[in-house]
Amino acid sequence: MKGVILCGGLGKRLYPLTRVSNKHLLPIHSKPMIYYPIQTLVDAGIKDILIVTGGNHAGEFLRLLGNGHQFGLKHINYTYQEGEGGIAEALRLAKHFADSDKIVVILGDNIIEKSIKKAVDDFREQPSGAKILIKKVSDPERFGVVELDKRKRITKIVEKPKKPKSSYAVTGIYMYDKRVFDIIKTLKPSRRGELEITDVNNAYLKSDELSFSVLKGWWTDSGTFDSLLRASNLVAKKEQCIKKY
Ligand code: G1P
Repeated sequence: MKGVILCGGLGKRLYPLTRVSNKHLLPIHSKPMIYYPIQTLVDAGIKDILIVTGGNHAGEFLRLLGNGHQFGLKHINYTYQEGEGGIAEALRLAKHFADSDKIVVILGDNIIEKSIKKAVDDFREQPSGAKILIKKVSDPERFGVVELDKRKRITKIVEKPKKPKSSYAVTGIYMYDKRVFDIIKTLKPSRRGELEITDVNNAYLKSDELSFSVLKGWWTDSGTFDSLLRASNLVAKKEQCIKKY
């Protein structure tokens, strides 16, 4: 299985920090943000990684990461997203790299405490379709939110609902088979003018091919001032615990 990290966008919610840098290069505690999703994939056993970047500072990724030796990698693949077409549009650029393999996609600003290896291994065994990781949060309206029936099956995913029907957010970690690229072709831009990853996941749900598991440990995005600070604090706490024991 291959890994794709999405690091495009202009990071407007973090202006002026992102006027002269890409969001994913900003510091989270002691490392640039992008280090964390790379480590998440490497820890899950994924060594073939594509970074999709964009905006005005794309060259800095290469200067920072090179071939990924600091993660024990031999090589990192890069591609460039022109404009700001959304997560699903950025993912479209991974088609050539995926080359019909299954992929694990992670948003470059999603930081987690624990390993996703078990979920990745489960998806490897899943014959086809997609898998998402969800997490209970106190502010679901900021995310894609799953609606669940009495038997705890997902019935629908709604992007940033005003009145969320559950507290389970869809994290920015997604696993797809090769059909994802055909689904992306059918998408229409949402009200915010983007191709939404939530529409991709709903397409899999419609054909009854979407599995999910609940992410263990903490999870945070880091694309707003509050979540950027939260991410640094959570990582700092984790590092202190590691040092202690
Ligand atoms: C995106 C997705 C959303 C998901 C979130 C996770 O939101 O659209 O469904 O819950 O990432 O970080 P965005 O960061 O584009 O607002």
